[in-house]
Amino acid sequence: MAKVATIFACQTCGAVHSKWSGRCDSCSEWNSITEEASGAPVSGAKGQAMPKGRAGNLVPLTGDSPQPPRTMTGIAEFDRVTGGGLVPGSGVLIGGDPGIGKSTLLLQAMASLANTGARVIYVSGEEAIDQVRLRAERLGVAQSDVLLLAETNVSDIIATMRDGAGPAVVVIDSIQTLWSPVIESAPGTVSQLRAGSEALIRYAKQSGASVLLVGHVTKDGQIAGPKVIEHMVDTVLYFEGDRGHQFRILRAVKNRFGPTDEIGVFEMSERGLQEVDNPSRLLMGTRESTTPGSAVFAGMEGTRPLLMEVQALVSPSSLGTPRRAVVGWDSNRLAMVLAVLETRAGITIGAHDVYLNVAGGVRVREPGADLAVAAALVSSLSGIALPAEAVFFGEVALSGAVRPIGQSELRLKEAAKLGLTRAVIADGAEASRIKGVDIKALDDLSSLAAWITSR
Ligand code: TYD
Ligand code: MG
Repeated sequence: MAKVATIFACQTCGAVHSKWSGRCDSCSEWNSITEEASGAPVSGAKGQAMPKGRAGNLVPLTGDSPQPPRTMTGIAEFDRVTGGGLVPGSGVLIGGDPGIGKSTLLLQAMASLANTGARVIYVSGEEAIDQVRLRAERLGVAQSDVLLLAETNVSDIIATMRDGAGPAVVVIDSIQTLWSPVIESAPGTVSQLRAGSEALIRYAKQSGASVLLVGHVTKDGQIAGPKVIEHMVDTVLYFEGDRGHQFRILRAVKNRFGPTDEIGVFEMSERGLQEVDNPSRLLMGTRESTTPGSAVFAGMEGTRPLLMEVQALVSPSSLGTPRRAVVGWDSNRLAMVLAVLETRAGITIGAHDVYLNVAGGVRVREPGADLAVAAALVSSLSGIALPAEAVFFGEVALSGAVRPIGQSELRLKEAAKLGLTRAVIADGAEASRIKGVDIKALDDLSSLAAWITSR
């Protein structure tokens, strides 16, 4: 037997190193590198000739290709994120923190799909059949025709699929339990994850089944995370949310068959995940509008506008280095807005503790939230509440200027739909004026501060 080569693979990012070290150069994670069998025999002969290849068929780019057919699960928020349903023969990765609700979401989606008559197989490597059944009962989907398989051996999983009528959709829960007999390392290592996922994706392409791979996001380097197979699959979805909140967001970060950045919003309940088709209303429902430091931001999530509440608390600090704590936004961005407020608008927050929170456990990624954050900060510092019916959006430049952001009209429409009648936005974005919303246009942060304190 040929000698098996060993590699040193980072369990977090999948980078391969020639020797062990305490820290991965590629992702800077500590203690994440482990020795694994590479799976490929060492080719002893140096400069071994490449086998002679066969010429392939060249085709012109122009020409008709039919739109791929789609398998809709019937859960609208899920179908939206996949770009209008699952594409046969595609591989989809669904990542998320352990316990966030991946298994629940998929069991519900598969039950709904099975009710349309599709053959659906749910492979559980983590839970026993009885546990899955109990969960299905709790979710009220125990009567649907989902086929279960408790198996972790990849060859056996694929053999089961090939036996009898081929499934339309297969769920593998989770990739970290997959175990391939041809790889020497333990389940959960980079080589096992790659080999198992590769085999299943190859099966998907050959058979036309959609394969959904569940992957736990891992914090320490003990088991490999879903990042290491992102490049192999056609679609990457992440299921996120704050454990303390009932909201869960399914987000597409890569999609070869549809738009990315599309989100689906769910609410957790005793009976599983409920779809939320008007998330703005839910997020705004809990708002206390008379408190200083609260500003409504009209963000965009994929193609949908979403209103969120930005809360700031600025309080005198007893510490030498004041605290800056941010939940749901980028802390570097907060530091920037604070610095711009101080330098360009003369508002000194430096000696205060600053806490910033986006309500509902949502995470804002847009720089367009700068203006809402600045307004919340000034409001909290001055003790003057912002008008309850106002929405804010705009990007803040280092010069202190407020810049317009894209899709103002959609954002304003969403605000109007939820009964907000004023918008504080950048000068220049007024072209998108809509009926029923009064616009206050600002060109810089000084005028924002002046507007807040003069009211
Ligand atoms: P689970 O789906 O097992 O998470 P994951 O597969 O991502 O690790 O969900 C974790 C726990 O939360 C589980 O005990 C069920 C519970 N849960 C609910 O009670 N209601 C819900 O809507 C969801 C999503 C989860
Ligand atoms: Mg699970």
